Amino acid sequence: MLRIAVLGSGRGSNFAAILRALDEGSIPEAQVCVVISNNSGAGILELARSHGLPAVHLSQKQFPDEQQFVAALLALLQAHHVNLVVLAGYMKHLHRTVVGAYRNRIVNIHPALLPKFGGPGMYGHHVHEAVIASGQRISGATVHLVDEEYDHGKILLQRTVTVSSDDTPASLADRVLQIEHQLYPEALRQIAEGRITLDTP
Ligand code: GRF
Repeated sequence: MLRIAVLGSGRGSNFAAILRALDEGSIPEAQVCVVISNNSGAGILELARSHGLPAVHLSQKQFPDEQQFVAALLALLQAHHVNLVVLAGYMKHLHRTVVGAYRNRIVNIHPALLPKFGGPGMYGHHVHEAVIASGQRISGATVHLVDEEYDHGKILLQRTVTVSSDDTPASLADRVLQIEHQLYPEALRQIAEGRITLDTP
């Protein structure tokens, strides 16, 4: 059984897509146990609450130091017996202690075809601006494992979109987001079914 924690900072449209897939039964043997956001006003927390799921605002700012924040985050994950952490628009860097505690059990979605267009500063519109500026004809989305480096862990699943000559960063972002909403639930389905193995190199 996958016991999922979703971490996000914003509107939560990927989380919404995951919830739809869970409701439809297309991700077997999986449930969302807790949703955590660093941002008290995040749409993702609202969405969790409206589905009757535990929604927790947890931010570094609530703690005197990073160590205590990390301890609280780990305690929350452990209290919910989480065995898969799903980052869905989480804008904070996960501390290496958390990455170590959930090694190969943290996944993220990135709005480009990694390993290109990833790394520090490559988020939101910056990604799509860079893709267009580079003249790439293809972009897409990537689900990958999270390690200590930004956008660096093993690539689990990708899907492409065509970049057209009249694309703006906003239009490309919209098209990639549509793909993300298919790709993330599909990746979780394959993880749940054991078709994507998280532990192999
Ligand atoms: C997505 O574009 C995702 O690729 C990136 O953050 C965005 C989150 O959007 N990591 P949403 O909150 O899921 O709507």
